[in-house]
Amino acid sequence: MSKVLFSCRSLTMKFGGLTALNKLDLDINEGDILGLVGPNGSGKTTFFNVVTGIYRPTDGQVVFDGYDITGFSPQAVFEAGISRTFQRSRLCLELSIFDNIMLGNFKTHNLGILGNIFRRKAFHKTCAEEIEKAVELIRLLNPALVGSIHRPVADLSMIDRRRIEICRALIGKPRLLFLDEPSAGMTHDETNQLMDEILAMKSDERRLTIVLIEHEMGIIGKVTTRCAVLNFGEKLCDGTYQSIVENPLVQEAYLGQEVTEDEV
Ligand SMILES: Nc1ncnc2c1ncn2[C@@H]1O[C@H](COP(=O)(O)OP(=O)(O)O)[C@@H](O)[C@H]1O
Ligand SMILES: [Mg+2]
Repeated sequence: MSKVLFSCRSLTMKFGGLTALNKLDLDINEGDILGLVGPNGSGKTTFFNVVTGIYRPTDGQVVFDGYDITGFSPQAVFEAGISRTFQRSRLCLELSIFDNIMLGNFKTHNLGILGNIFRRKAFHKTCAEEIEKAVELIRLLNPALVGSIHRPVADLSMIDRRRIEICRALIGKPRLLFLDEPSAGMTHDETNQLMDEILAMKSDERRLTIVLIEHEMGIIGKVTTRCAVLNFGEKLCDGTYQSIVENPLVQEAYLGQEVTEDEV
């Protein structure tokens, strides 16, 4: 049986009178690609924000790899091994591809006291290693970008920007990766392309576990191993893709119709 890597119990986030996340219980097994779906405003991004330390939960508990990380700061959550991308792009457009990726690498960039004393040599070595790591990641997602890592991100297409955001999330070698609508603003074909790349990257890193927020149910069916459905901050159900699309509660949440590929 797979090991449970992440679990939350009764996770609740209230913004004043609005309950954005209500007593959420969720387990994620190591190696899963969990699809997190639900109508707009159902609490998906809030779940990411609460787990990654942007908001402190009103109630409940988050356990990652056996450790209670409830209420940890974003840095501490990242150091524990959870990285994320954002629904709205957070790249620094005037910085280069390499610099943007390195912004996600503060975990390994600290040379420590001894490193600082012998700084110059260590710094050169670290730089060379970091360029190598960044190139390795870029090669996985778009080999054509390898030769342009010092170009500003502003020159890139939307899909390449998304790729760079994913590289930035991966550079710190997370064990759990949260992707918040990585396909936002892309065409259907580009979305399919990016998802194929995510799958290829996942098979390269077998221990990586992914939570993917995505509206297109066809994509969810294609790439996920399990799904959870939120509605008004509550979990409607979780299970295989087939079981959630056949669930009457899910169909009701989506305008009382049968769930089809483009509706969610
Ligand atoms: N910082 C915040 N302050 C107040 N309300 C918020 C905040 N963040 C999210 N919400 C509200 O919480 C609900 C869930 O939002 P969100 O998690 O962004 O939904 P989703 O990602 O599923 O579309 C929405 O009603 C949203 O307006
Ligand atoms: Mg959202």
